Amino acid sequence: MTLDTRILGTTGPRVSALGLGCMGMSALYGDADRTESIATVHAALEAGVTLLDTGDFYGMGHNELLIGEALRTAPAARREQALTSVKFGALRGPDGAWSGYDGRPAAVRNFAAYSLQRLGVDHIDVYRIARLDPDVPIEETVGAIAELVEKGYVRHIGLSEVGAETIRRAAATAPIADLQIEYGLITRGIEREILPTLRELGISVTAYGVLSRGLISGHFSADRQLAANDFRAHSPRFQGDNLRHNLTLVESLRKIAEQKGVSVAQIAIAWVLAQGEDIVPLIGARTRERLTESLGALDVVLDADDLAAIEAAVPADAAAGERYAPAAMAHLDSER
Ligand SMILES: NC(=O)c1ccc[n+]([C@@H]2O[C@H](COP(=O)([O-])OP(=O)(O)OC[C@H]3O[C@@H](n4cnc5c(N)ncnc54)[C@H](OP(=O)(O)O)[C@@H]3O)[C@@H](O)[C@H]2O)c1
Repeated sequence: MTLDTRILGTTGPRVSALGLGCMGMSALYGDADRTESIATVHAALEAGVTLLDTGDFYGMGHNELLIGEALRTAPAARREQALTSVKFGALRGPDGAWSGYDGRPAAVRNFAAYSLQRLGVDHIDVYRIARLDPDVPIEETVGAIAELVEKGYVRHIGLSEVGAETIRRAAATAPIADLQIEYGLITRGIEREILPTLRELGISVTAYGVLSRGLISGHFSADRQLAANDFRAHSPRFQGDNLRHNLTLVESLRKIAEQKGVSVAQIAIAWVLAQGEDIVPLIGARTRERLTESLGALDVVLDADDLAAIEAAVPADAAAGERYAPAAMAHLDSER
């Protein structure tokens, strides 16, 4: 099977119009089923998804090992089409605590060496630091990745959660394929300055949080119990009155979805797909059922009236609560 494709930036790879974000298969959304996770990666590859997104810190290497196993056990033709997008730089403690970011060139080479080994590949397709290291100029971090590109260990350079000034400095150092950043119906911050900057420079977006981590998927309810290690148990948007308010937005969206005979998640994904050919949603499906639902968004056609109705139901600044808790917000160069 083939899916619609989009190109990352002016120099990056051609990828499926939806990428599979594998984070939840190892971390941050409570327990995941390993067998079902690998079956989901296989089903995605079979359906024509070519972009697999991970981070070396998702479960401290667990996610890369899982993707490595999925690639090893996939049919050769599917494995050869798969492109890996890997984030590095987040520092963790044995208890899982987050303790900053390391973008020093020696650290970049070290992180890459371990990722190649865990993934079982001879190159990474798109490599990026997860957050700006405030102590290391972006030129040095990007320069170190550019050296890995020269040596054939990395194909393309990406960025993650950085703002317009950092994007310009990075792009002046080496070609940048994409910025990975949160973007969706209730997370519209990039539209003001970041997206115009990316378009000026010919850099694409790989969008995460398109479903706002499940909040606007249509499957989330106020009575859902979240484990203490679930990101959403601490996310402002999932707390008390904020959650109740945000779920009313979902109900408005549900009316539109029902009129079109599709699901809420499909409307939310299709809306992001409709914002430009330079945007590739990364979907955090970790079961085949969620994957199938997400891929269905590629068949949803939204005309101008649909888009207007969606924006009226969920205006740009409608969400209650920030997208991260304060300590994590402080690491976002994109929010400065
Ligand atoms: N660069 C960064 O800073 C950054 C940050 C976060 C994530 N990411 C990347 O982006 C990827 C996607 O992010 P995300 O997981 O937060 O985004 P998401 O797709 O907004 O949220 C995934 C969550 O939505 C739920 N969901 C409900 N219906 C779904 C459907 N039809 N398809 C998929 N999920 C559905 C899943 O639920 P269940 O509970 O049913 O599984 C899962 O908990 C990650 O896997 C990761 O690779 C990058």
